[in-house]
Amino acid sequence: MSPHLHVYIYSSLHLLKPPKATATFTHYYKMASSISLPFITIFLFLLFWGGEGRDPFACDPKNTGTKDLPFCKASLAIEARVQDLIGRLTLEEKVNLLVNNAAAVPRLGVKGYEWWSEALHGVSNVGPGTKFGGQFPAATSFPQVITTAASFNASLWEAIGRVASDEARAMYNGGMGGLTYWSPNVNIFRDPRWGRGQETPGEDPMLAGKYAASYVRGLQGTDGDRLKVAASCKHFTAYDLDNWNGVDRFHFNAKVSKQEIEDTFNVPFRMCVKEGKVASVMCSYNQVNGVPTCADPHLLKTTVRAQWGLNGYIVSDCDSVGVFYTSQHYTSTPEEAAADAIKAGLDLDCGPFLGQHTEDAVKKGLLREVDVDGALANTLRVQMRLGMYDGEPSSHPYGNLGPNDVCTPSHQDLALEAARQGIVLLKNTAPSLPLSTTRYRNVAVIGPNSNVTVTMIGNYAGIACGYTSPLQGIERYAKTIHELGCANVACTDDKQFGSAVNAAQQADATVLVMGLDQSIEAETVDRVGLLLPGRQQDLVSKVAATSKGPTILVIMSGGPVDITFAKNDPQIKGILWAGYPGQAGGAAIADILFGTANPGGKLPMTWYPQGYLENLPMTNMAMRASGSEGYPGRTYRFYNGPVVYPFGYGLSYSHFVHTLASAPKVVPVPVDGHRHGNISDIGSQAVKVTHARCGKLSISLHVDVKNVGSKDGTHTLLVFSAPPPGNGNWAPHKQLVAFEKVHVPANAKQRVRVNIHVCKLLSVVDRSGTRRIPMGVHSLHIGDVKHSLSLQAQTLGIIKS
Ligand SMILES: *[C@@H]1O[C@H](CO)[C@@H](O)[C@H](O)[C@H]1NC(C)=O
Ligand SMILES: *[C@@H]1O[C@H](CO)[C@@H](O)[C@H](O)[C@H]1NC(C)=O
Ligand SMILES: *[C@@H]1O[C@H](CO)[C@@H](O)[C@H](O)[C@H]1NC(C)=O
Repeated sequence: MSPHLHVYIYSSLHLLKPPKATATFTHYYKMASSISLPFITIFLFLLFWGGEGRDPFACDPKNTGTKDLPFCKASLAIEARVQDLIGRLTLEEKVNLLVNNAAAVPRLGVKGYEWWSEALHGVSNVGPGTKFGGQFPAATSFPQVITTAASFNASLWEAIGRVASDEARAMYNGGMGGLTYWSPNVNIFRDPRWGRGQETPGEDPMLAGKYAASYVRGLQGTDGDRLKVAASCKHFTAYDLDNWNGVDRFHFNAKVSKQEIEDTFNVPFRMCVKEGKVASVMCSYNQVNGVPTCADPHLLKTTVRAQWGLNGYIVSDCDSVGVFYTSQHYTSTPEEAAADAIKAGLDLDCGPFLGQHTEDAVKKGLLREVDVDGALANTLRVQMRLGMYDGEPSSHPYGNLGPNDVCTPSHQDLALEAARQGIVLLKNTAPSLPLSTTRYRNVAVIGPNSNVTVTMIGNYAGIACGYTSPLQGIERYAKTIHELGCANVACTDDKQFGSAVNAAQQADATVLVMGLDQSIEAETVDRVGLLLPGRQQDLVSKVAATSKGPTILVIMSGGPVDITFAKNDPQIKGILWAGYPGQAGGAAIADILFGTANPGGKLPMTWYPQGYLENLPMTNMAMRASGSEGYPGRTYRFYNGPVVYPFGYGLSYSHFVHTLASAPKVVPVPVDGHRHGNISDIGSQAVKVTHARCGKLSISLHVDVKNVGSKDGTHTLLVFSAPPPGNGNWAPHKQLVAFEKVHVPANAKQRVRVNIHVCKLLSVVDRSGTRRIPMGVHSLHIGDVKHSLSLQAQTLGIIKS
C-alpha cells in the first residue's frame, strides 16, 4: 500500500461512484464555506468535544429498534450473530460491505467503517482509518522492523505490539483510529535492493515467522477468541520487488517453484496464522506462476484457510483486484475479476472494485450470493470478536483507554530500549568503543543523517511523540561540533567536505552518521546498488584520514550497505548499524557509543558486496544457487560466496563463550510403517513430515554462555543446523533452528535451554515441495560449538496408504 494509491483509490471512488460519506462531507464543506466563522468554530469545538467518547459502531443501547436484535446480543455465539446479521442484509448492502470504506446500514443501526489502518512499528497514519490531531497529536514510534528484528528478542516484539495496540485502542475510543491494522509485513527480505526490506524482519523464514507470531500476539492480545485489535500478515506471497529495471509490482509475475514456496516464501505466513493466530492475511499485487495471488484459490482457500486454518479475513492489497483487471488484464470483464477474487477466497477489497462490480457479477451468474455471504461472514466475525457489535465501547475491556495512554513515559522508554537492543556493532578495533567521556570531551558529529528525525522512523510510521536525533543524543555526553558534510544522503557534491574535515581535525573524536533514507529505498523504490549513495564514501574516507581522534561510522539504513571500504580502513575504528532506530534512535546510538548500553543486536540479513549483484536479476525468484547459470543464490541459507558481514553477525563490548552442557546424540523419529523409504531425488533416506508422528517431538539442548568480558551484556544464542550431507543442491547449507537472548553479567555464566521441534525445524523441502525429515547425522552449530545429532526412523507398524 502506498499513500499515492490511497489518493488514487479515493479519487477513482469520487469519479465512478461517490459514496454517501463523501457526498455528505462535500455537502458540509460547501455549507460551512457559506457560514460565518464563529459558527464554524462552535461547530468544530462540538465535533472535537463530542469525539472524546465514540458512539457505538452498532447496537447502540439507545437505539430501541436494533438493540434487541440477535446480532446485537453479546450473550449469543458469534456464529449465530453473524448469520443473523447476514440474513437481514440485501445483496446491495452486502456488496457495499466488501470494501475498506464499508458503507453504513442505517436501517440496522450499523455505521460505516474504515478497515484500513496501519501499525507496522507503532500506530501509523498511512491508512485512512487513523488520523492524528486533537487529543491524539502523536503516537510512540518504535524502530523500523528490520532494526527491532536485530534484537532477536521475541518478548520485545510482543511488548511493542502490546504498546501499539494500547495506543490504537485509545485512538479508536477517541474516534481517531480503527481496530483493523494491516501489519506486520512478513515477506522475506530476498534481495538486498528491495525498498521495503526495511519493513520486514529480514531474510530468514523462521526468524520472520517468530517475529510475525510474537508481534501479532502483542497486537491482538491473548484473551481467547476476543481481539484487542486485528492484525494482518502481508503480502501473501512471494512479494518482494517494488520497481526494478522497468518491472513493477503491479505487473510482476513471480515464477516460484513449489519447493521454494514451501521452504521459504510461505513459512512466515504459516507461522503467523498457526502460531500467531492472526485475524487476517493480505494477498499481494504480483502474480505467482501466472495467477494474481488475490485470485488464486489454491493459495487463499486451500493453503491459508483450509490447511493453516485462518480464523479471520483475507484482504487484498490496496486496489489489487482493480490492478489484476486493469493492469494485468487477467480477466476480460470486471465482473469476472470480482467473481474470481471472491471465489478464490478473498473477503475484503482494499479499494472500490468489489463494491462496484460484485452485484453485477451475481446478476450475471458468475458468482452466487452465498459466496458473498461467505466473504462477509469472515469480516463480520472479526468485527464481532473486536466487540464492535457489543454496544457501548466504554463497556469493552479496553474501553477506558484514552489520550493519557498514548506516548506515556513507559511507552517511550520501550522505544528507546528497542533501539538499544537492535543496534548492531560491526567493527571495534583495539577496541576503541565505548568512547570515554573524560577522554573525548569534544566530538565532531558529521554526516547527512547526523541530526535527522523523521529519517529515523522509516516508512509506515505515524507522528512520533518526540525525537532525539543522533546529534542531540551525543550532546548528552560531550561537546559537539556539527557539520553535515553533504546536503542530504544523495551527497552529489563535495562543497561541504572542507568544513567537515576541519571539524574532525579539531575534535577529540569523530562520529560520522551516514547511510540512506526514503529517497533511496522505499515503497516503489528499489535500490540500484549496494554502495553508499553519491560521494558519501569519499566524505567518510577524507574525514577519517585527517581526523585527530578515532573515527566512528554509524550507518542508518534499512537494507544492507556494502561498506567494505570502511571495514578495511584502519582509520575507522568502529562501525555501528542503527537501521532506522525510531523516535529515540539518537539517544540509543549515543548510549552505545559512550557505553551506557552494551550492544547485542545481530544482523537479520546478509550484507553482500556490490559484486554480488552482477548476475542477479531481481526478478529471479530462485533462492538456490545455480552453478551452470552463474547464479549465486540468495540469503545465508543458499549463498556461499563472499560477504561484507554475514547473517547473525554482531559484536558486543563483552565476549561470550559457549559450551554445550547437554544434548542428545541419537533421536528416534517414530514413523508410520511402510511409509519411509529411499528418495532417489534426495540421495538419502528422508521421511515425509506427514508420515512422522511429530506431535511434540522435540530435542532440548542446554548451552552454557559465559561472559568473559568486564561488562554485563546480552547475548543472542543462534543455533543453526546443517542437514546430512549428500543432498545435492536441494537443501540449505544451514538454517536457523533456534535463537535465545540472554543477559549475562560480567564473569558470570548462564545456562540456556533450547528446544528444537524436530519436524518443523530439522525438516527440509524436496523439489516437489514436500517437507521431509532427513534421517542421519544433522550438524548443529552454536557459535564455535558443533554437535552431531543422529535422527533414526523407528517404524511403528504398517498402516494403509
Ligand atoms: C538539529 O535538529 C533539531 C531538530 O530538528 C534542530 O532544532 C536543531 O537546530 C538542529 N541542530 C543543528 C546544529 O542543526
Ligand atoms: C536405502 O538405500 C541404501 C543405499 O542404496 C540401502 O543400503 C538401504 O538399505 C536402503 N534402505 C531402505 C529402507 O530401503
Ligand atoms: C527482551 O526485551 C524485554 C523487553 O524490553 C526485556 O525486558 C528483556 O530483558 C529483553 N531480554 C534480554 C535477554 O535482553
